[in-house]
Amino acid sequence: MEREEFLSKLGIGALAVCMGSCLAACSKSGNAAPSNNNGNSNGSSNKPPASGTTITTDLSSSLTSVGDSKVSDGVIIVRIATGNTASAFTAVQVACTHEGTAIGYNSSQNLFICPLHGSIFSKSGAVVQGPANTALKQYTVTITNNMLTVVT
Ligand code: FES
Repeated sequence: MEREEFLSKLGIGALAVCMGSCLAACSKSGNAAPSNNNGNSNGSSNKPPASGTTITTDLSSSLTSVGDSKVSDGVIIVRIATGNTASAFTAVQVACTHEGTAIGYNSSQNLFICPLHGSIFSKSGAVVQGPANTALKQYTVTITNNMLTVVT
């Protein structure tokens, strides 16, 4: 009788331990840090670009008008002013820092807007409105002979 009682208590104890660790695992999963990949399956990735990626654009045929934008290798490049100088462009990661959805540029407001939950970022990538609470990574733009280059 003592043995059965002992095993019974052990079983309950083991169950309690299991439930504790299972709940802890679920809690970690449910509170995972935001992903920068929205998991879309259409082949386009919104992941931030790998460090050292070089993106080039010929300004004689691309980004010719103020408000024009182009997404390449995880970076959105926008013409924000006339002229082919670096200050006429901004380049930030296209993946929203909230959950990784591709942001878009609203040229009338000069803001990046995430269509999923409405986060808003300035043209330099600073958070204007959440739920995102981390700025978009901004990249340096250089221009040589009408060729715009961004290195991540
Ligand atoms: S994924 Fe952009 S605001 Fe949520």
